[in-house]
Amino acid sequence: MAADISAAVAFLAEAGATVQAALERWLPDEREAAAAPRLAEAMRYSALAPGKRLRPALALAGARAVGGSDADALPYACALELIHTYSLIHDDLPAMDDDDLRRGRPTSHKVYGDALAILAGDALHTLAFELVLRETSDPARAGLLARELAVASGYHGMVGGQVADLAAGGGVPDAEVLEAIHRRKTGALIAAAVRGGARAAGADDATLAAFGNFGAALGLAFQITDDILDVTGSAAALGKTPGKDERESKLTYVALLGLDGARARADREVERALEALRGIAGTELLGAIAHFVAHRDR
Ligand code: IPE
Ligand code: IPE
Ligand code: MG
Ligand code: MG
Ligand code: MG
Repeated sequence: MAADISAAVAFLAEAGATVQAALERWLPDEREAAAAPRLAEAMRYSALAPGKRLRPALALAGARAVGGSDADALPYACALELIHTYSLIHDDLPAMDDDDLRRGRPTSHKVYGDALAILAGDALHTLAFELVLRETSDPARAGLLARELAVASGYHGMVGGQVADLAAGGGVPDAEVLEAIHRRKTGALIAAAVRGGARAAGADDATLAAFGNFGAALGLAFQITDDILDVTGSAAALGKTPGKDERESKLTYVALLGLDGARARADREVERALEALRGIAGTELLGAIAHFVAHRDR
């Protein structure tokens, strides 16, 4: 398993550099942004900060798994990262989780104030769709990718999950409610990363379905691990403040099952993710990333 994780770590570093360079190019340049230089600065501040780039890496890995190239999936991969970054800016706002530290830096609202943080998130959100529709070479494919992003990030996915997350604090932990929250707030975008990456490279429907199942299980494992790291991780490693979930009485897998129970559940979801790939050639890298997700320390 250690070898698997090192392959994933090496790939994440490589994909992260590819995505970083593309984001540098596609984000508005604050030195040239006559209209709203402060907005461009705030967008770059959050999007170029050192995240793990897991979602775009999964998109590139999904494309490679079906014989595509990084170039096929790069606009979509960057769009995922922009939507994810917007979700983090809004998640950290005082009206939501009220966090001061993100990706090792003060949160957007701490630097730019609530109003510009909200608007920087909004602009990253719409830039994601602009990029996919402008930079994906095949227009029919671009439309399908935009739809994939919209469904995963809106009412049916991330935003719906965030609303349910905010409503669920305190009270008696309910396993079904918690699983539904995690699948929507985090799982949906991760599943869309793998599926969309493959779609950008022309995958067939059976592969898309299998990758969707892989990504959904992986996304749940990822958020369970996020819950675990909030208890066991350090601010230095995570780049965000640990211990917040317990302080805010959040409904998490650690609150529901305890640390060992949550670890076992994350492992089970990774097994389910790997099961979804069984028999599909070319998916070793996706499998390695799945092992990484449950054993990460940041
Ligand atoms: C944090 O996501 C928010 C969740 C959905 C759990 P990541 O752990 O992927 O954050 P970055 O992108 O590395 O900063
Ligand atoms: C956030 O979940 C999921 C998002 C859609 C942003 P968390 O609130 O647990 O994420 P962190 O721990 O602040 O990164
Ligand atoms: Mg939150
Ligand atoms: Mg949060
Ligand atoms: Mg968390």
